[in-house]
Amino acid sequence: MINENRLLQRLHDLSQIGRNKVTGGINRFSFTSEEQQAIELVTSYMKEAGMTVNVDGVGNIIGTYGEENETIMLGSHIDTVPDGGKYDGALGVLAAIEIVQTIYEQQLPLSKKIEVVAFKDEEGTRFGFGLIGSRAMAGLLTYEELQKRDASDISIQEAMKQFELSPLPLEKVKRNDIQAYLEMHIEQGKVLENEELPVGVVVGIAAPLWLEVTVTGVSEHAGATPMSIRQDALTAASEMILAIEQMLNGTTNSVATVGKLNVEPNGVNVIPGRVTFTIDIRDIDEQKISALESSILEHLQKVAERRNVTVTSKVLQRVKPAKTAPMLQQQLASSIEKYGVQPYSLISGAGHDAMNMANVAPIGMLFVRSKGGISHNPLEYSSDEDIVIATNIFYDTVMELAK
Ligand code: GLV
Ligand code: MN
Ligand code: MN
Repeated sequence: MINENRLLQRLHDLSQIGRNKVTGGINRFSFTSEEQQAIELVTSYMKEAGMTVNVDGVGNIIGTYGEENETIMLGSHIDTVPDGGKYDGALGVLAAIEIVQTIYEQQLPLSKKIEVVAFKDEEGTRFGFGLIGSRAMAGLLTYEELQKRDASDISIQEAMKQFELSPLPLEKVKRNDIQAYLEMHIEQGKVLENEELPVGVVVGIAAPLWLEVTVTGVSEHAGATPMSIRQDALTAASEMILAIEQMLNGTTNSVATVGKLNVEPNGVNVIPGRVTFTIDIRDIDEQKISALESSILEHLQKVAERRNVTVTSKVLQRVKPAKTAPMLQQQLASSIEKYGVQPYSLISGAGHDAMNMANVAPIGMLFVRSKGGISHNPLEYSSDEDIVIATNIFYDTVMELAK
């Protein structure tokens, strides 16, 4: 059994780093002093758990326990969305460390070494491009992608240099020696709550396509320009955004979200001349994502023509949906049964580092019930009881795979 008080205390302590005292939300973005403080705390926990800790070329924090040839990797992330919750990512990293510490304290013999990873920038908050660490570990990250820039025009590569990381050569970050990658994460949806179950086995992960759309009209005087001759980029963008919602209404697994909007010049008495907004499109089926991408872009073009503005788009990030390995699903299910809980399978609407790791290893994911399905929000919550039973189940699975 894991040490539940230690795990819950660490979850609390980590949540104090980057915490906004007014909203209660957490802001820990990649290559910032808040993230660095979190890295230092997590590194100290890894060391207490008997691990040696290394940082790879892109800033993934990797704790290693044991020296056997074969590797079971456990991981998640410690960065957050703006005003994020305390469980998304952090729980998976801390639960993994707790599992290793339990094994270390009891000196349990293992036939495989265990690595625990806190991946670099899963959320993509700072650069509009996420899953950086797992993308690199899966051999998918390119030098071109390292040139993506944040709002202050700092590139990923420049940010890495500020933290004395030399990300070159990326080829060295790629791993192909992992027997199984496992991630425990909060569900971030309402399925387990509706089923009245504390945990569930993930069978597949829907993946995001992120687009950035730019609508260009003409900035003119708000008082002197008659309504009939305006080329208003914001009213055009508004029609586009509502059309996207309508196109997605009635779909089963597909979702699309416009979460970020920038209006220029953003003046009370100026007709907006340029608007950029993002679209996040997700599905478990890659072809459905592509079909939606084409039909949405086609529709935006029609709206632009009718409103006498122009529209362009670019891909910010395209991730492949992933399936989890049946063998790991079965192992998780059998550990769940040992705890007297009915095994239940579900898909993940949210993205995870596991999606990328599926390119280089069999992956497994255990979900923990989320209260009200709320996530990416300071109100994100999973109960202590659910966290403890989930971590014990995860511990059992790791022991079965590594013993
Ligand atoms: C990360 O949480 C994502 O799904 O975007
Ligand atoms: Mn998240
Ligand atoms: Mn997450």
